[in-house]
Amino acid sequence: MEDQEKTIIKIADVAEFEYQTEQFFKQVVPHFQGSNRENILNYLIAELGDNIKQHSQSKKAVLDFSPRNQELADLIISDGGIGIGSSFRKAGLDVNDQEAIKLALRGRSTKKEGNRGWGLRTVAAIVLKLKASLEISSGNARAIVEANKPIFMKVPNRKGTTISLVLPKKIEIPDKIFYDILEGEK
Ligand SMILES: Nc1ncnc2c1ncn2[C@@H]1O[C@H](COP(=O)(O)OP(=O)(O)OP(=O)(O)O)[C@@H](O)[C@H]1O
Ligand SMILES: [Mg+2]
Repeated sequence: MEDQEKTIIKIADVAEFEYQTEQFFKQVVPHFQGSNRENILNYLIAELGDNIKQHSQSKKAVLDFSPRNQELADLIISDGGIGIGSSFRKAGLDVNDQEAIKLALRGRSTKKEGNRGWGLRTVAAIVLKLKASLEISSGNARAIVEANKPIFMKVPNRKGTTISLVLPKKIEIPDKIFYDILEGEK
C-alpha cells in the first residue's frame, strides 16, 4: 500500500528515450486501475515523449508521476527545449506562443507530412473523455484544457514545454471508444 503512494521521477536522456519512457510507463501502470489503462497510459507517455524527441531539441526530459490523493494522480512531462511557439516560428508560421499552442491543440503540425498533428489533439481528447485535465505551458503561454474550450493565459516566460496531466487513478475508457478517439483524430 505504501508503495502506491510513491512519486516516480525520471530525468531521461533523449539519446535513450524509448527505453527510459518504457521503464517509466511500467512503473506508472500499477498505480492505475481500469482494463484499458495500459493502452491509454502508453499513448499519453509515448506521444508526449515522441514530441520531445521530434520537436524540442532538448537532450533531457523530466518524467514525473505523483499520486495526489486516493482518486487522482499527476503526470508531468517536461523538457527544456525550444518550446512550441519557437517550433512553429522555425517552421515559418508567424504566431506567438499562445497562438502556437492553440494551433497545436487544433491539430496543426510542423511536420512536413500534411496529415500529421494528431498528437496533442488526441491527448486532449483522451483527457476530456476521462474528465481529467491537461495544462500545456510553453514560452510565455499556458493553456488549460478541461471540459469546454481551452483557457489561455500569459505567464512569465520559461524555457521549454511542460505538459501536466491530472488523471483519475481509475481510467475507464472502453477499448472501442478509445480506438474511436484515435481514429477520430486521423
Ligand atoms: N515538446 C515540444 N517542444 C517543441 N514543440 C513541440 C513540442 N510538442 C509539440 N510541439 C509542436 O506542436 C506541434 C503539434 O504537436 P502534435 O504532437 O500535435 O503533432 P506532431 O508531433 O507534429 O505530429 P504527430 O503527433 O501526429 O506525429 C508539433 O508539430 C510541434 O511543432
Ligand atoms: Mg506528436
